[in-house]
Formats: sequence, structure tokens, C-alpha cells
Amino acid sequence: MQKIRLSQSVFEFNRKRFAQQLKPNSIAVFNSNDIYPISADSTHPFEQHRDIFYLTGINQEETILLLYPNAAHPAHREIVFVRKTNPQIAVWEGHKLTPKETTQISGIKTVYWVDEFERVFMELARHTEYIYINTNEHYRAKVETETREDRFIKWCKKLFPYQKYQKSNFILQRLRSIKTAEEISLMQHACSITEKGFRRVLGFVKPGVWEYEIQAEYAHEFLRNRSKGFAYTPIIASGSNSNVLHYIENNQQCLAGELVLMDVGAEFGNYASDMTRTIPVSGRFSTRQRAVYNAVLKVKNEATKLLVPGTLWKSYQKEVGKLMTSALIDLGLLTKKEVLQNAEAYKTYFMHGTSHHLGLDTHDYGLLDEPMQPNMVFTVEPGIYIPKEGFGIRLEDDVVVQAHGEPLNLMANIPIDPRDIEELMNA
Ligand code: GLY
Ligand code: MN
Ligand code: MN
Repeated sequence: MQKIRLSQSVFEFNRKRFAQQLKPNSIAVFNSNDIYPISADSTHPFEQHRDIFYLTGINQEETILLLYPNAAHPAHREIVFVRKTNPQIAVWEGHKLTPKETTQISGIKTVYWVDEFERVFMELARHTEYIYINTNEHYRAKVETETREDRFIKWCKKLFPYQKYQKSNFILQRLRSIKTAEEISLMQHACSITEKGFRRVLGFVKPGVWEYEIQAEYAHEFLRNRSKGFAYTPIIASGSNSNVLHYIENNQQCLAGELVLMDVGAEFGNYASDMTRTIPVSGRFSTRQRAVYNAVLKVKNEATKLLVPGTLWKSYQKEVGKLMTSALIDLGLLTKKEVLQNAEAYKTYFMHGTSHHLGLDTHDYGLLDEPMQPNMVFTVEPGIYIPKEGFGIRLEDDVVVQAHGEPLNLMANIPIDPRDIEELMNA
């Protein structure tokens, strides 16, 4: 069994590289996420903020990391604050990290209880010139909630209005977008669990099954393989639901002759996998379904070859647009005249991006105006959506950019050839 916990040297290495990017005489703070309320006393399950996990390995709520690389006293260069427990918390919620365990996980020797944070921070920050705050700068982020980080920033700016503020985010976007061997091995394992789920589903799907039953098959296989579960809300979209890009109701019956598009990925050791497969409910593709399927597969394979060091995101997207345009002309969905009038006519049938970074977040960090580099991990996920024909097809694999040659496909073992899918479904 793959080790779920990364060793403390991984987090030490991450902090070291982060600290190297700070201006002299800086202090940086990272907060955990809140536990988000639903109503009454219900809450969503806790999800650690990926940045503090990346820098400490700690998955516990109410954790704060403080980095002050130029501190005169070595014990102040890295401090982690954790929630102080008591017998009542132990009875109701279970064990919380002790200072010793906190050090074992993170490699940080100075551990305080979180209720000491304000005092310690005020004492140390007074001597610094820059305070690094951790704003959310992700290109897809749309957050209305006030996070713990936001509350800290408000408090901090009131307390130190004349300090110079810097953003940690762009440093982390660069670091987190390039994966270490340990991270890639966890992601490979997440993909292998996803493979188990998919193989199980190939033997399960037949006319009459419900989308939520398929979801349950994946959940079963993910949980029994020590995944925390789905890396993101799964999409199980049969028939025309497959044309709804973010369909998550998963409550319809799969009918003979339809396709079912499944966008699912297991999480493992905090890392995501992200797969899409589209399969025929009856176990055989129709001639038209097969033609569209093969077109999507070809675009996926050709697009994958473009994920090499130096590729610029914009030119990648443009090249994939050309591949897709020619596929759509071959399928009779676009005419050459339409393409001459509008080079982006393909977006009628393929209206989303081809790739995104993948890692601790499903749509992971990475600066899209910088060239691709080795050990970045991307999804490749073209699709053709044809509402007038009642189906859409998307295929998605996860690949690692290599220093030389074609990317490494972490999903190479997950069946995708339509003949293999049919054979496995009818075995
Ligand atoms: N499942 C989310 C995505 O493919 O981007
Ligand atoms: Mn996906
Ligand atoms: Mn994806």
C-alpha cells in the first residue's frame, strides 16, 4: 500500500523554497480554512487550505503557520500554532495533534497553541519590513465568503498599517505547479484508484441503472482503497445530461442506446486525480457515437503531444482549437465556410478549456502566462457536445510534462479505446 503521509522532509523542502523567494526581513502567515456552517449545528466536513498543507503537512483545523526566515532567534524562524485540546474535545471530536506530533509531521520544532498566535505575531512582526499575506489569486477563484485568511489580513492591517504588504500567492503558484517525485507518486496512486472504480463500473453499467448507482460504485471502490473519496463532485451524466458541463444531479436512469459521461476522480493523500470517460449504456457504441468518440480521442492524443516544456498556454489552446475544428468538419458539424467566417466556430461544440493544472487542488495552481515546465501535471480533456443529437462526449487523462519527449500519462492503464471499452462491458 502506498504511504498516505508525505515525509516531513517534503514540507521542509517546500518551506525552504518558499522562504528563498521572500524579500529580506519578511514575515509570512498562512491560515487553515474555517469549518463552514450549513445551518443549525450542521457543518461541512473540514477541508484544509492547500497552501498550509503544502508547507506543513498538517490537516487539522485552526492551524496557523508563521515563517520569519531572518528572525534573530532560530526558534522564531518557523512556528506552527495548533488547536489546544481538552478532555471534552477529546470525547466529542477525538484526538488532536500534540506539539510532538505536530513536529513529527511538519518538521517544525517551535509549536505553540493557537490562542498564543496574536501575542507572538505582534511581538515578531514589529521587527519586520514586509508582511506576506495569502490572498486567493487563482484565475478561476470566485469567493464571496470571508475566510480565516481574510479575517487575519483585516486584523493585521489594522494593527500594522504602515508595514509593507506582499502576496505569497504568486510564489506558491509557481512552486505548487511543479510537482516533486513524491507528489507525482501520490497522484499516480490516486489515478490507479480511479482506474479501479472505472473498471468496476464497466462491469456494472447496463440499461436501467441510475446515475447515482454508478456514483455509488465509484465511491465504494474509492473508499475501500483508502481514498478520502471523490476529489471533486462527480458528474455522472447520461443521455442529454452529458451536454451540461457541470451536471451534478446524478439522478436519472440510464437508457439503452444512450451514452453516459462520467467525470470522476479519486483523491489520495490530499492529491487529486481527474478522469472523464464516456461509455455506451448498452455496451456498444452506435456508428455516430463511435465516430464522435474517435474524433475526441484523436484530439486528446494530439493535444497531449503539445504538453512539452516551453509551450505557451495561449498557443496550446489555439492549436487544440485547430485540431478540434478539423475534427468537427470531418464529422459534418462545421463547414469550411463557417470556419472561414469565424476561426472560433469550434466553440459551439467545445466551449471549455482543454487543460488545467492538477495537484492538491483539482484546478490547481499555475500561472497561465508562463511557459510549461517539466513536472507540471495537466489534465487533457477535450469534448464534443451535440445537444441536437442528444449526447456529448468528453475524455480526460492526467499527464506529467517531461523534460524530454511526450508527457507521461498517469491514466495510461485506464481503458479508453472504444473496442476495449466494449469488450470489457460485454465480458
Ligand atoms: N472535473 C473537473 C474538471 O474536469 O475540470
Ligand atoms: Mn474532470
Ligand atoms: Mn479536469
